[in-house]
Amino acid sequence: VSARENRDLIGRLQQIVGGEHVLTSRDILGSYETDWTRRFSGSALAAVRPASTAEVAAVLAACNEAGVAVVPQGGNTGLVGGSVPRAGEVVLSTRRLAQVESFDPVARELTAGAGVTAAQANALAAAHGLQLGVDLASRDSATVGGMAATNAGGIHVVRHGMMRSQVIGLEAVLANGGVVDRMFGVVRDNTGYDLANLLVGSEGTLGVITRVRLRLVAVERRRAVALLGLDSVEEAIGVALAARNGLPGLNAAEIFFAPGMELVCSAMGLTPPFEKRFPVYVLIEAAGAGEVAEGLAAFLEGSARAAASAFATDARDCARLWAYRERHTEAINTAGVPHKLDIALPLGRMAEFVREVGPVVRSLDPGGREILFGHVADGNLHVNLLGFEPDDERPDDAILRMVAGLGGSISAEHGVGVAKRQWLHLTRSAADIAAMAAIKRALDPRGILNPGVIIPA
Ligand code: FAD
Ligand code: MLT
Ligand code: ZN
Repeated sequence: VSARENRDLIGRLQQIVGGEHVLTSRDILGSYETDWTRRFSGSALAAVRPASTAEVAAVLAACNEAGVAVVPQGGNTGLVGGSVPRAGEVVLSTRRLAQVESFDPVARELTAGAGVTAAQANALAAAHGLQLGVDLASRDSATVGGMAATNAGGIHVVRHGMMRSQVIGLEAVLANGGVVDRMFGVVRDNTGYDLANLLVGSEGTLGVITRVRLRLVAVERRRAVALLGLDSVEEAIGVALAARNGLPGLNAAEIFFAPGMELVCSAMGLTPPFEKRFPVYVLIEAAGAGEVAEGLAAFLEGSARAAASAFATDARDCARLWAYRERHTEAINTAGVPHKLDIALPLGRMAEFVREVGPVVRSLDPGGREILFGHVADGNLHVNLLGFEPDDERPDDAILRMVAGLGGSISAEHGVGVAKRQWLHLTRSAADIAAMAAIKRALDPRGILNPGVIIPA
């Protein structure tokens, strides 16, 4: 595409969304061009901020015609480099699709523009004792459209499932400007291909999600949180499995390790919870309308005896215990630009993985270090590597191969993005990848939607 064609396209985009919503100045573009981890960045031709489905459709039709690629972007909290441009794309920001259109406390659902954040949706739902089924630490910035596009997981998957389970309806604009409207929300609907489900988890490669209709869940009246200090991963898995099988109202089961606890305490200025250092920590949350604290206490007494534990029931104390786990991401960012590998393992192989990952990291660089944490009940570990250059792919390669060898997944919840696409073949077959590429070609024949994401080159 020539410079003149680019100028013409920018002119068309200005006509569609208004001049002030086509950003081209390098200073302003900066925040659209770098991801949350700072590992991924590239320059954009422009950032365009449409305010309606019709404007999104016109923007995509114009870019498709011009052959200029588009990177959809919501809150830009994605962790696999899929929300930022690589070279000269148009960033399509959904942040002005920020309308909560309807909210039905009886049916327990909400219809919102893709750019509404999780926190905004929750603030509205909370007045009726409701919330989204998915919750994550990026809630203040992550948008419901981005969460659907990545099939986000978060801390309550063990109870409510991933974002896919929350999506009752969805509207999206395809590369040619056509609108797929699956918002009608009838529970029983067997009328052919499930296009809404196809778009969930498609990471901006098949269409731009413009509206979503989401299931809501109750904000449980009572909550209890226990933080346990444990001696081994095997013990942690034992606690998570026992909780999954027998703890009423299990709401979250999270794992982290001594190096993460120490980094969080030093970087965030928190006092460690116990006098003694433990190799492994597990956080269990139960929530419900009944005797939740008593249930959790009985569980700890019976099935989850720990050398040390802290217990909380009021909101402030619960938040204090959660901070040791939830502040890992920001604490790690203070220590460098991490390689973030979000993996899942069969629970029976997790201990083996944790034992082997350190030596593998050190064999590549004696100064490399790993901070592990994650959603233990689902076998999901976040492997964060520090001490490697952003473009050094050796640790990613070694660890993702190890995960595949153990029968795991190279992406549990963050998606493939650009960060993992060259390793997709490790856990998806050639036939799978060919089918995905065929779907991509059929819906986006000119390849303008988020090229470089998911599908290997
Ligand atoms: P963006 O980052 O803007 O985009 C993410 C991807 O979706 C990109 O490929 C983009 O092109 C595409 N996209 C965005 N909006 C649309 C749209 N409307 N239509 C089509 N494609 C679109 N993730 C989890 O799963 N679980 C967690 O527990 C979790 N915790 C996090 C904690 C922190 C502190 C941070 C920074 C991130 C965390 N994440 C987590 C990752 C991230 O928040 C999620 O992936 C989230 O769903 C991204 O939403 P977003 O609006 O920021 O999307
Ligand atoms: C989390 O569970 O906190 C996230 O997925 C974020 C991360 O992996 O850093
Ligand atoms: Zn996570």
